[in-house]
Amino acid sequence: MTTTAATSVPPELDAGALARWRDGGGKLIELFEAARELGPVAGFRLGERRIVLVTGAEQVQHVLAKNPDTYVKHGHRAKVLLGDGLLCASGEPWKRQRKVLHPQFTGRGIRAYEPQIRAAVAGIAERWAAAAATGEAREIDADLRHFSLEVIWRSLTAHPLDPETHQRLIAAGDSLAAIPAFAPATGEIADDFREANERADVAAAHAIALAGEAEEPHLLAVLLKAAAELPDYTERLVRDELLTLVVAGYETTATALSWLFLLLDAHPEQRDWALAAGPVGSPERAAAIRALVDETLRLYPVAWLMPRYAAAADTLDGLAVEAGMTVLLCPYLTHRDAELWPDPEEFRPQRFLEAGRRPVPGAYFPFGLGPRACVGAQFAVREMVLLLEELLPAYRAEIRETPEEVGYAITVHPAGPVRAVLHPQGE
Ligand code: HEM
Repeated sequence: MTTTAATSVPPELDAGALARWRDGGGKLIELFEAARELGPVAGFRLGERRIVLVTGAEQVQHVLAKNPDTYVKHGHRAKVLLGDGLLCASGEPWKRQRKVLHPQFTGRGIRAYEPQIRAAVAGIAERWAAAAATGEAREIDADLRHFSLEVIWRSLTAHPLDPETHQRLIAAGDSLAAIPAFAPATGEIADDFREANERADVAAAHAIALAGEAEEPHLLAVLLKAAAELPDYTERLVRDELLTLVVAGYETTATALSWLFLLLDAHPEQRDWALAAGPVGSPERAAAIRALVDETLRLYPVAWLMPRYAAAADTLDGLAVEAGMTVLLCPYLTHRDAELWPDPEEFRPQRFLEAGRRPVPGAYFPFGLGPRACVGAQFAVREMVLLLEELLPAYRAEIRETPEEVGYAITVHPAGPVRAVLHPQGE
């Protein structure tokens, strides 16, 4: 994508937007929205930092898929808790670790853990049946968090999630979720994480003890085998990897599901459409439910901001990117670009099933793109579809309290509890 007319002087960002953001009166997303107006690649300064915001599909593809060695992960925010786990690793260690985990999260691997997903689905279905009988509103976001945590815990250990571990992991995860989207260097926040790390260590030791007794397939067996066979795969790395899978896997999935129930409350006809697509267990119904998930992740790509560090100079759409600059990818903005997505603000899952309307490369990346894309993407989609196949026909979730704000931290999330009354539906 090198062009001859590269400029090293970033176009000026609207001074008003920058000032509002600096004064705390605006959100980071407003700053990015203003920057996006400059074009598919926009450069600006935030204090000492020189930022390049990339929102054009072709340029997203260039950064994430075609040039992952130029645009690298660097000093990940989650390292304070997740250490050298896959999310924060780089270089050769990352390659080795990815090779161990990847097969567990594709076709046959996922099928091995499907009984654990189904057990977690049965658990939430039971809780919702009891709640529906009372007619009282409940925090369904907490239910969905419990569900997705149970899925990953069961897949790791082949054991149900006990209440103490549930609490410990949620508390550890919450401390990470509270890091602002644009965090200071990890050293500055490490002190705040002592307690979270202690909790996480107890949970990890418990998981390892449980996994030793398990007979069904479980992910920890794969990690422990790697530790026994590979020289650099230390016990500490087993702990980091285990916590990485928990933390990367549960909040993201649960938040996507919360958005989905909020969107279905505003668009009840879309729930009816998905259920009418085919009978229980049919591929047609599964495809329509998958489209609900895809469209939810288009409007709310939970991992809404992906930072990269330019390890070498490059030129992006005429802008000279210098080594050392921070490059930000923002699927939240790319997914709402009217040139890529007609009527971008509309919730219209059918767009994912229309023949010949596959998104252009780089236009849709809720799970990232290229070699560092989400290792758990297929697993997450399978988990969400299995849950929705069970819950959607059985209940209509009437949202009683919609959070007014959208939170933009490590995830884009409803900023407050999502309370709903569950109305049993006959099918
Ligand atoms: C809706 C659910 C999910 C979303 C939206 C999501 C999103 C993402 C994204 C965007 C990335 C890449 C970040 C980047 O390039 O900077 C990522 C990486 C990752 N995700 Fe997910 N994820 C989800 C569920 C899961 C699940 C269920 C697991 C595991 C069980 C998981 C494990 C990981 C790991 C380990 C990485 C790091 C991969 C690597 O760097 O090689 N994620 N995820």
